[in-house]
Amino acid sequence: MCGIVGYVGPKSTLDVLLGGLRRLEYRGYDSAGVSIIAPGSGLQTRKKAGKLDNLVADIEAHPLPISHIGIGHTRWATHGAPTDTNAHPHLGGSASKLSLIHNGIIENFAELKAELLAEGTKFSSETDSEVAAHLIAREYEILGDLPTAFAKVVNRLHGAFTILVIHEDEPDVVLAARKNAPLVIGLGDGENFLGSDVAAFVEHTRRAISVGQDEIVILRADSVQLQSFAGAPVTFEEFTVDWDASAASKGGWSSFMAKEIADQPQAVADTLMGRLNSDGSVRLTEVDGLSVADIKAIDRIIMVACGTAAYACDIAKYAIEKFSRIPVQVELSHEFRYRDPIVTPNTLIVAVSQSGETMDTLMATRFAKEQGAKVLAICNTQGATLARESDAVIYTHAGPEVAVASTKALTAQITAGMLLALFLGQNRGVVAQETLLQLGQELLKMPARVTKVLENLDDVRALGREMANAKSVLFLGRNVGFPVAMEGALKLKELAYIHAEGFAAGELKHGPIALIEEGQPVIVIVPSPRDADSLHPKVISNIQEIRARGARVIAIAEVGDEQVGHYAEHVIFVPQSENIFSAILTVIPLQVFALELSTAKGLDVDQPRNLAKSVTVE
Ligand code: M6R
Repeated sequence: MCGIVGYVGPKSTLDVLLGGLRRLEYRGYDSAGVSIIAPGSGLQTRKKAGKLDNLVADIEAHPLPISHIGIGHTRWATHGAPTDTNAHPHLGGSASKLSLIHNGIIENFAELKAELLAEGTKFSSETDSEVAAHLIAREYEILGDLPTAFAKVVNRLHGAFTILVIHEDEPDVVLAARKNAPLVIGLGDGENFLGSDVAAFVEHTRRAISVGQDEIVILRADSVQLQSFAGAPVTFEEFTVDWDASAASKGGWSSFMAKEIADQPQAVADTLMGRLNSDGSVRLTEVDGLSVADIKAIDRIIMVACGTAAYACDIAKYAIEKFSRIPVQVELSHEFRYRDPIVTPNTLIVAVSQSGETMDTLMATRFAKEQGAKVLAICNTQGATLARESDAVIYTHAGPEVAVASTKALTAQITAGMLLALFLGQNRGVVAQETLLQLGQELLKMPARVTKVLENLDDVRALGREMANAKSVLFLGRNVGFPVAMEGALKLKELAYIHAEGFAAGELKHGPIALIEEGQPVIVIVPSPRDADSLHPKVISNIQEIRARGARVIAIAEVGDEQVGHYAEHVIFVPQSENIFSAILTVIPLQVFALELSTAKGLDVDQPRNLAKSVTVE
């Protein structure tokens, strides 16, 4: 959590910092702040509690001088309430000439703070970050060399952190350190950038370097130096960012979420592009490192993820098991990591994460690697830590997802999961190849079907608005419809702050049916009536059971399902597809329902309360 941006170069630093923070605001929005060094006026800092707009208004009211170096921060509070004083940057030293921003948690801050307090250091905030600012300022006063002082202090810090520092007496350099929190460098012509992710600077450059663990960056307008915490020079590889700035802007939509929902045909198409041939065969060059022998040796797949990404795994599990007959276990990363799970060299770990920075998922994959397992990541962010630390990566090409609620990243993750399932199936050879090729051809049709779903959402929008005062909404599904139901409930909780639960429709009679009373809204994901596993009649029976107890049933069903209308009060139709791929379609009305309901309640759909897009603490 927390967004970090740094700049040194000829542009107006404030414009670069505020533009970067605008794009990083999804990472945290409790407070924001900037520090710049201006010729003649030295270090200038502004910070404000609340959203970035508060900071912008403050700077407009009291303009800052032109400068060519600075750092900016948007905060998701950990230590200390979201107030002006706890906002970053934090100043260090008796003359307050050093400014520092921090993302992460300094676990040994109490002991370091005690040391500083004993020396008489005065603190202005309750944060762990201010401790690092004072320590670096103190070392600089002693050693007289900023990079050396900086390196000495970062070696003393425990926990997870990205730290950026500028100092009034060294007005041409930004120092940065990274340990278990993200940091990327943007390379310009006579200018350079730092960011928590490439969104911070993609407007200015698409040339980037991903900073490794325990590395320090010494950034000047005309040079970039990387070294390890121990001081050894580090070689680095440049990559080209495949997002463009417009992809990270609202582009006329009322919210990022609305735009990202509309981006889904493209996100699905781009994730399939170059990987699925017209005959239905799958080419995943990303997993070339795994030979057919390796694939045949896999005896179990464990998928690890959190939140929406974990529902993508739940959906992929159905396909992987069906197409390859490899047993799949889906685990919430944080539960997996700390329960002494059984992982062997023949276990394939599939870690799914939009950001690639979710600390719970990183910890889970690191643990699995230590046990000798291979890790395959499904990730949306180039240069992300998960991608760097995995043996192979299937990138979802959803483009930048800015809204906190995941939408297009999910449909892209499901698509990648389906590609992986077909790929494993085609290499394991336990299911008829002809069947798998036919399924591959069906998968190619999904982007067009997603477009069709998006064209027919007026009814679901109206329902969302009409149900703005609902106290609770339940969601039901079977098979791939079950994780879709869970996702529908998650979207409603996080965006509309409404009690919502998703259940397996078959589980209803084992308890949850007691929740049904007159007028209780229940959204049911209805499988295709053409489905060979006869799930449809079972779900229709479940609808009848809840209707009999007074539920108001809204069904998401496929076009041509003539039965469902007899039992549900409202039916939202989506195009026909293979049941196994249907989650890519049925989840979209649920996204739109939550968006509409939240908007009708006057809530901020892009930045729901208490949340951050990228959860980089455990
Ligand atoms: O970046 P990740 O995919 O690892 O994020 C995982 C979850 O934090 C994320 O999906 C979260 O649940 C979303 N806010 C849901 O909309």
